[in-house]
Amino acid sequence: MKIESVMVTGANRGIGLEFVRQLVQLSEPPSYIFATYRSADSLKELKAIEESSVKTRVILIKMDVTVPEEIDAAKNIVESTVGEKGLNLLINNAGAVKILSFPILTLENLEFHYKVNTEGPILVFQALLPSLEKAAKFYEGGMSVSKAMVLNITSLAGSIGNAGVVFTQDLAVPGYKISKAALNMAMRAIAANIKDKGILVVNMCPGWVKTDMGGRELAQLEPHESIANMLQTLPTLNESHNGTYMDRLGQPIPF
Ligand SMILES: NC(=O)c1ccc[n+]([C@@H]2O[C@H](COP(=O)([O-])OP(=O)(O)OC[C@H]3O[C@@H](n4cnc5c(N)ncnc54)[C@H](OP(=O)(O)O)[C@@H]3O)[C@@H](O)[C@H]2O)c1
Repeated sequence: MKIESVMVTGANRGIGLEFVRQLVQLSEPPSYIFATYRSADSLKELKAIEESSVKTRVILIKMDVTVPEEIDAAKNIVESTVGEKGLNLLINNAGAVKILSFPILTLENLEFHYKVNTEGPILVFQALLPSLEKAAKFYEGGMSVSKAMVLNITSLAGSIGNAGVVFTQDLAVPGYKISKAALNMAMRAIAANIKDKGILVVNMCPGWVKTDMGGRELAQLEPHESIANMLQTLPTLNESHNGTYMDRLGQPIPF
């Protein structure tokens, strides 16, 4: 799998950080990885990867997905770096959860999840669309991760079909579940609307991963396992997967 350029949002810790770590270690690593973060105080591990990376230029970008000016500034950095070749892969990974169950749920909690987990990925995708379109035109062949793709890191928790059936414990986080269901819908609709542009759009659950969000005790997967699985699945995806919702192994999840 050769992917020339990748943007990973929320790359300073957890799943995003592990994506950057494994991407630079690929046998044919990307030439550019745009790794976004919010606070300069959180960059120790990401900076270590940036400094030790030989074949890949890791470009750190400050970007809160709820701040349009920062998304715009990030878009300018990506566009001026990749030029006419465009951006091949956007990994919409940044996400957040604040546990608050119904009925103590607040409007603030609902709006927080929607802003970060639903609006954020849509706004980032919208900003990077021209660059993704350039890549889709520049590279030959059908839809693929090597050409132009948006990988949305969603969650099984956003499955309406599974609500209350699996992961019953996450009923404590309705705000999060609603925001991921909305993300899935948004990206399915966008995928259908722009399918002629040749950009593959996929919603993928990483599994239950030992991160700050997933927790270290109960979560089933180490970050390296989850990300290795996702990176193995990516090159198997094509037009038939556009707008779909799947687990890290490529198995469909009911919307
Ligand atoms: N871990 C799991 O079991 C699991 C399961 C299913 C889905 N997911 C999804 O996987 C993704 C990554 O989760 P994780 O487990 O790695 O979580 P994490 O360890 O809590 O990391 C979250 C990342 O998102 C960033 N972020 C949060 N709010 C942001 C904002 N407004 N703008 C930009 N970046 C923001 C964080 O940056 P800061 O450090 O600045 O806060 C951090 O880099 C999320 O979308 C999550 O919903 C995780």
